[in-house]
Amino acid sequence: MSKEVKDYSKYFVAPDLKSAKRRGKSDVQVIRFEQIPENMRNAGAGKKYMVETYGCQMNVHDSETIAGILEQIGYESTDREEDADIILLNTCAVRGNAEDKVFGELGRLKQLKLEKPDLILGVCGCMSQEEVVINRILRSYQHVDLIFGTHNIHRLPFLLRNALFNKEMVVEVWSKEGDVVENMPKVRRDGLSAWVNIMYGCDKFCTYCIVPYTRGKERSRRPEDVLNEIRELARKGYQEVTLLGQNVNAYGKDLADGNYTFGDLMNDVRKIGIPRVRFTTSHPRDFDDHLIEVLAKRGNLVEHIHLPVQSGSTEVLKMMARKYTRESYLELVGKIKQAIPDIALTTDIIVGFPGETDEQFEETLSLVREVEYDSAFTFIYSPREGTPAASMKDDVPPEVKKERLQRLNELQNEISRRKNEALRGKVVEVLVEGESKKNPDILSGRTRTNKLVNFEGPKSLIGKFAHVRIDQPQTWTLKGVWVDEKATDQSGGIRNGTHP
Ligand code: 5AD
Ligand code: SF4
Repeated sequence: MSKEVKDYSKYFVAPDLKSAKRRGKSDVQVIRFEQIPENMRNAGAGKKYMVETYGCQMNVHDSETIAGILEQIGYESTDREEDADIILLNTCAVRGNAEDKVFGELGRLKQLKLEKPDLILGVCGCMSQEEVVINRILRSYQHVDLIFGTHNIHRLPFLLRNALFNKEMVVEVWSKEGDVVENMPKVRRDGLSAWVNIMYGCDKFCTYCIVPYTRGKERSRRPEDVLNEIRELARKGYQEVTLLGQNVNAYGKDLADGNYTFGDLMNDVRKIGIPRVRFTTSHPRDFDDHLIEVLAKRGNLVEHIHLPVQSGSTEVLKMMARKYTRESYLELVGKIKQAIPDIALTTDIIVGFPGETDEQFEETLSLVREVEYDSAFTFIYSPREGTPAASMKDDVPPEVKKERLQRLNELQNEISRRKNEALRGKVVEVLVEGESKKNPDILSGRTRTNKLVNFEGPKSLIGKFAHVRIDQPQTWTLKGVWVDEKATDQSGGIRNGTHP
C-alpha cells in the first residue's frame, strides 16, 4: 500500500491521506498572499510557462492563480511546450482515467526534459495530495522537478526558487484541513466570464470520493471578500461570474456568524450589477428553501442548477453516504421546478458502484426519466485508494458497468434532444463567447440555461448579449439565427423570447 514515501531531503514534505481525513476544531486562518520576495521578482524574466489543467472548474481556477503568481515573477505564458521553461500539470484525482492521462503525459515529457535539462517540470493539484502518486513519481518519473499540493499554491515562488537552485526533486504537499488565502494574483481566461471561489474543501465524505482528502475541510471565504471580488469584476466589465465550491450549499456554516447562508450570499450577489451569476456544485442535502426562494427572483441569477444525484436507488445512495434518499431528492426537484418552471437541471451520475444490482441501476434510469435533466455527466465507478468504497466488495463485471453506462447515455441523449427540440422557434439570450471551435465563421455562446448556441453574426457581437432564434436544435448544441438586427423595432423588445 501507500506508506513507503521516504523523507530524504530538506525539500521533502509528503502527503498523508490519513491526516488529510482528520477534521479538528481548529479555526481556519485567513492568510493574505504576500508580495513576491525581492530575490524572486525577476526570476522568470525572458522565460515562458505553460500550465496544463485536468479536472473540474476549481482546478481551472487554481491554474489561473498559478498563472497569476508566475506572471508576477516575470514569466510569460506560452502554449508551445518546446518554448516553455516551466511546465506544470495541474492534476485531478477523481477517477483513475484522469490519473492515467497525467502519468501518460509525464512519460511523454521525459524526452523534452532530456532535450532541455533546464526545463522545470512540475506536478500540482489533487493527485499530488495522494501518497500513492508521490511514490509512483519517485519510482518511475524522476525527471519531475517540483511537486506541490492544493493547500500551498501561495508558496509557489519559494518552491520554484528551491527547484531552480536544487538538483533534487522538490516536494511540498500539506495534508491539513486548510486555510483561506486571500489576495492571490489571477490571470483570468478572458474578460467576459470569471470563476470566483466562495468556499474550499468538502466535509461530506461520500464513500467513493477522494475530494475531501485532497481539498481539506469545508471553509468559506468571508462574504465581504466574495462580494468585493464580484463588484470589482463587474467594474472591469465582466458579464458573468460562476461561484465555485465543492459543495456551495454548505457556504457559511463554518463562519463565526453561522447565520449567513448560501441563499443570503446569492441574495447579495443578485444586487450587484453583473448580468449573469452561476454556481457549482450543489449537494442536494444542503439545498434549502431559502435558496430556492432567492433563485426564483431571477434577475442575474440564471435558470440553471447542477444537482448531482449519483444514483436513483436509495440503497446505493446509502452505500455512497450521500445522506438523502431517492424520494427526498425528487421532492427537492419538485420544489425547484415549481418555483422556477423553466429551470435547466443537470447532474452527475455514477454507474457500477460496488454491488449495484440491475434493479438498482433501473432505479437510476427511472429517476432520470422522471427528472428529465437537460444534460448529465455520467461515469463508471472508479475505486480510489484510501476511500471506504475502495474496500467494498464489487461483484459487478466491467462489461456490465459499460453496458449500464451506454444505456444511461442513450436515455439521457434522447431526453436532451427532446428538451432542446422544445426550443425550436424560440428566441434565446446568448452571451457570445467567441468564434466556434470548429468554424471561425460561426459565433458561439451560451444561454442563461448554459446551453451552447452556434449562429452566424458579426464578430462585433463577441463579448455581448445577442438574441438568437433556434432553428436547428440538436442533442448537445443549438443552432440558430441572430435576430437582434430585425428585432430592434420601436418597441425595442424581443417577442417570443424565453427571457424577455
Ligand atoms: N468514480 C467515478 N466517478 C466519481 N465521481 C467522483 N468520484 C468518483 C469515483 N470514484 C464523479 C461524481 C462527482 C463527479 C465530479 O465525479 O459523479 O459528482
Ligand atoms: Fe478532480 Fe475533484 Fe480535485 Fe476537482 S476537486 S480536480 S474534480 S479531484
